[in-house]
Amino acid sequence: MRRTTFITGGTLAAVGAAALAYSRLRARGSETLTPEEGSLFTVYAPGGSYGFLANGPVGWVIAKLMPMVEAGVYDTVAEMLDLQPDDELLDIGCGPGAFLAAKAGDTLRVVGLDPSRTMLRAAERRLADRLKTGTARLVTGSAAELPFDDGEFSAVTAIFAPVDLTEAFRVLRPGGRCVLADNDPRKSPSEPASRWGRRRWTEDEHRRLLEDAGFTDPTVRYKGNYLFGGVRKPSE
Ligand SMILES: C[S@@+](CC[C@H](N)C(=O)[O-])C[C@H]1O[C@@H](n2cnc3c(N)ncnc32)[C@H](O)[C@@H]1O
Repeated sequence: MRRTTFITGGTLAAVGAAALAYSRLRARGSETLTPEEGSLFTVYAPGGSYGFLANGPVGWVIAKLMPMVEAGVYDTVAEMLDLQPDDELLDIGCGPGAFLAAKAGDTLRVVGLDPSRTMLRAAERRLADRLKTGTARLVTGSAAELPFDDGEFSAVTAIFAPVDLTEAFRVLRPGGRCVLADNDPRKSPSEPASRWGRRRWTEDEHRRLLEDAGFTDPTVRYKGNYLFGGVRKPSE
């Protein structure tokens, strides 16, 4: 019995270590964009300290788990966003595309942006029908520099994903809405997330950064272990 436990435990540990090593190695490859000093990529991109979380085998497992774990978060984001049939929605750091597939099915157009090909492959499967009809698009890129025109979207989301709010503001049209979701900074202040991936924004920082970017009347809501920030770009 002890021998079986020992062999099973050893095998699991070896498989886990091999998967981690493989994902770190793959993360060093040229899968997507180049990490730049001081940028979001330094932390999250392939090759960045936390890049393995979204790339390679670890990223693949996370892409499977995230939609299950985050279903309640998607509900709250959708409720705050109040999506309409004529909305054109950008999801920054869309990951496996679960929010777009589950909550934005009736919108005019959805675009998911992510630097991770592992995540985008999962999103491709989830959004296959809409990709075929041309009402969905998946783009490799970074929140730091959104490859979109000014005012291209009526709604923007960033769910547990890095976001540069000035960029989110720029790609929104006047009157457009933006909703962010992150872990509650009062409960987990030091994990990597948000803008530069060093620590979470506090509620005050959320409000200040949203207002600095040009948004008005930020709404901050706490639900479960999460913080949600909702704003609107002023109408002209
Ligand atoms: C925790 S996952 C959240 C995924 C998705 N928003 C969801 O909730 O299902 C974070 C995502 O942010 C993406 N990401 C990492 N760095 C990014 C960057 N610089 N710009 C945009 N997205 C990034 C990761 O690849 C990953 O898919």
